[in-house]
Amino acid sequence: MKPLYQHPHKDAAQPLPQNAAEAADLHSQPASGEGTHRPMTGDDAEQRVAHVDEAIRSRRSIRAYLPTPVPQRMVADILTVASRAPSGSNIQPWQTYVLTGQALTALTSRLLEAFNDPAQRLMHQEEYAYYPREWTEPYQARRRKVGWDLYGLLGIGRADKDRMQGQHARNFCFFDAPVGLIFTIDRHLEQGSWLDYGMFLQSVMVAARARGLDTCPQAAFATFHQVIAAELRLPETRMVVCGMALGYADPKAIENQLVTERAPLDEWAHFRS
Ligand SMILES: Cc1cc2nc3c(=O)[nH]c(=O)nc-3n(C[C@H](O)[C@H](O)[C@H](O)COP(=O)(O)O)c2cc1C
Repeated sequence: MKPLYQHPHKDAAQPLPQNAAEAADLHSQPASGEGTHRPMTGDDAEQRVAHVDEAIRSRRSIRAYLPTPVPQRMVADILTVASRAPSGSNIQPWQTYVLTGQALTALTSRLLEAFNDPAQRLMHQEEYAYYPREWTEPYQARRRKVGWDLYGLLGIGRADKDRMQGQHARNFCFFDAPVGLIFTIDRHLEQGSWLDYGMFLQSVMVAARARGLDTCPQAAFATFHQVIAAELRLPETRMVVCGMALGYADPKAIENQLVTERAPLDEWAHFRS
């Protein structure tokens, strides 16, 4: 019986592309809409690699912003380009709220009120577990390192619980960014859609970098989903995934000097041939 699909490598008549330019040629058939492929050749290809790598590498979580506004058109462009992120069966599970001006102030005041009042704070719990219930290595050590590195820059000592809490509270005003994004998802969607969501979020952050903007993804908002749902009048069917600060980094803020580490490739990439 003829197989439903045969791997193209098995077809001797069809040679594999030998380089990136040839590979791009294979995929360069015109398509309608934004996704149209252009072949990458010569200098053009090198420049694209440099630009894309730079946008990815220069992304860092930025925790202090200038008040410089971001034009709504630019935010719309970033979200539009990020919506080219893939999603299983193209279901596009992202429902995004863009908050500026009065809408941003209203939400941040409600959140800070809830966070700063110990009695209220106890009433709020995240709807989904972002972190494991029990920490194991190497994750525990990595998590501690980034925490102490940030507190170290800010001069917050290990016993200084009040200042730690003060720093955590900064999440709820989006670290003073002029744009606050709240990402929500239909609650009946499954883990696969959360995977899709992550790709969309990274695309938002990379598209922001390409425009000279910075971001900080923020799961901290998930704890206060009830406050957010009330303020944004979210339908019952939708839940908060996370938030994100968007704006221009304050170059003078000490916390923005934080550069996090990554494990070397050979610790986690397993090449088999
Ligand atoms: C989904 C997600 C949620 C996060 N939530 C928070 C948050 O609530 N507050 C915060 O300060 N940083 C948050 N971060 C930022 C991480 O701490 C940061 O990505 C990590 O330390 C690596 O640093 P980098 O982003 O500068 O490369 C979050 C990151 C991700 C991906």
